Amino acid sequence: MARATASSPRPEAGQGAAPRHVAIIMDGNGRWAKKRLLPRVAGHRQGVEAARRIVRAAGDLGIEALTLYAFSSENWRRPQEEVSDLMGLLRLFILSDIDEFANAGVRLRVIGDYKALAPDLVSLIDGAMERTAGNRAMTLAIALNYGAQFEMVRAVRAIADRVQTGEIAPAAIDEQMIDTHLDTQDLPPLDLLIRTSGEKRLSNFLLWQAAYAELHFVDTLWPDFDKQCLVDALAHFGQRERRFGGL
Ligand code: IPE
Ligand code: IPE
Ligand code: MG
Repeated sequence: MARATASSPRPEAGQGAAPRHVAIIMDGNGRWAKKRLLPRVAGHRQGVEAARRIVRAAGDLGIEALTLYAFSSENWRRPQEEVSDLMGLLRLFILSDIDEFANAGVRLRVIGDYKALAPDLVSLIDGAMERTAGNRAMTLAIALNYGAQFEMVRAVRAIADRVQTGEIAPAAIDEQMIDTHLDTQDLPPLDLLIRTSGEKRLSNFLLWQAAYAELHFVDTLWPDFDKQCLVDALAHFGQRERRFGGL
């Protein structure tokens, strides 16, 4: 019998099932702005509105965990002004929405190497996570300074430390152990991964966790993504027959 890990199947998942964990690569803010002859930051502002809308919609639709890719470890390659616009919007998003999350029973988690961000942002995030830690209605995970390959590097390093101290033997390392050292260790298995804006790549997002996730690519630019788009994605998921290697 296969081991159940964050990336592996749940036997009860099947046709018509609702996804427990949905992740979204929120792409296309820049193109949304460009189409309107606006600066890119205007697209990012609308992107925050879309994120707000989708967090609410996910709660309404009974999704257990929603993971949003907000800033990749490669996004530092953008012009410094854009990076600081994005960080500013993130700060505002947490500051203005934390009360609503707390009241709605949303537990906030951040995945990625967020400790490398500005100290005030790190303490804002830590405070928000602490405050909502006991919430159970939904988990909202925000991927910040996140890259799946570095997430795996960090997991390997942590496991190697445990081997070095003699706490575990190399042969004890299995999929389950790797799972429990990833940033997503306390999230349900990833069922559905959505990317907006027409790009069909993962851009270093949840590579391990996506092993058996259904992939849903839509042309809609992220600022235009609304509750109906999410409902459509869930309907698409419900029609998939997930085989997990079996028949
Ligand atoms: C996604 O939109 C937001 C982030 C990556 C932070 P983009 O900024 O990548 O928008 P496009 O791809 O240039 O349209
Ligand atoms: C992926 O989008 C990262 C986020 C949505 C945060 P990008 O726009 O950065 O990805 P690439 O550069 O097109 O692969
Ligand atoms: Mg992009």
